Amino acid sequence: MMNDFKMHLKEYVDFFEDNLPQFLPKAEPHQEVLSESVTYCITDGGKRIRPVLVLEFCRLFCGDYKKAMPFAAAIEMIHSYSLAHDDLPCMDDDDMRRGKPSCHKKYGEANALLAGDALLTLAFDTIASKTDFSDISPLQAIRAAGVLAEKAGVYGMIGGQVIDLQSEGKKADVEILKLMDSKKTSALIAAACQMGCIVGGADEADIALAGEYAEKIGLAFQIVDDILDVKGDAKLLGKPVGSDSENDKSTYVSLLGLEQSQRLVDDLTNEAIEILNRFEGSEFLRELTLFLAKRDY
Ligand code: IPE
Ligand code: IPE
Ligand code: MG
Ligand code: MG
Ligand code: MG
Repeated sequence: MMNDFKMHLKEYVDFFEDNLPQFLPKAEPHQEVLSESVTYCITDGGKRIRPVLVLEFCRLFCGDYKKAMPFAAAIEMIHSYSLAHDDLPCMDDDDMRRGKPSCHKKYGEANALLAGDALLTLAFDTIASKTDFSDISPLQAIRAAGVLAEKAGVYGMIGGQVIDLQSEGKKADVEILKLMDSKKTSALIAAACQMGCIVGGADEADIALAGEYAEKIGLAFQIVDDILDVKGDAKLLGKPVGSDSENDKSTYVSLLGLEQSQRLVDDLTNEAIEILNRFEGSEFLRELTLFLAKRDY
């Protein structure tokens, strides 16, 4: 039997998956591989956590989540592109993703690079051309797009990925790890929460609070990812385990060990829930926060 939380989560994921295809590219003559590889990267698989956060934060402030769909699609496009590039031989060199061969294994390295490029630009195209402006003001849309761009780029995810690569083969200290994870993972999660707030019409204080919440769960999320890379089940995860040690990555687990890392996840989860207590109607987010900390995939 599914509890309320699981049913609510499924409703969001089903809504997202049912509506995503309309935002994906059609095959263009002489470049069919592009729409195919883009669709491959974003369809079938993935927990859809970032879209769910966009939809739920929007609902929290305006009672309606459906109008946030283009923003939910946009963030999943950027996330999916980041995974296609993250798996490339020049980065983590991983052959499986979301239970399938990684994009470069299926389409070759150059096409995986281009599929990622296409998804990145498609994200902003989606916001600009698929937003229903009878429901959302151009100002809200441009602000949300700005948050997404900032958190996905130099000051966010890409910056974090650069620190990740630079920290291979050495023992990065905890401060660097925190900075790295905050940028490579928390930033995009913050973009999800804050885009939902902006589209839902939240005020500045709540947008900032959502950012603080995201910082906590983002860090916890990456530490759990690192823990699962050590003791997870590749079949359940849909991606290889042992990738971090193979690449001699600096992670919380490599620095602090499994036990201390797990304690940190628990502390961050409690801190995140403390922040949620300041939002009325945040029961689903509370359950989601606990679910993410305990996940095994
Ligand atoms: C994997 O993200 C990359 C990290 C930031 C840890 P997810 O664990 O959200 O991957 P999917 O979308 O469920 O495949
Ligand atoms: C990736 O972190 C974070 C990204 C921004 C893509 P990882 O390299 O640990 O993610 P996985 O384990 O490959 O999903
Ligand atoms: Mg990586
Ligand atoms: Mg990786
Ligand atoms: Mg990982």
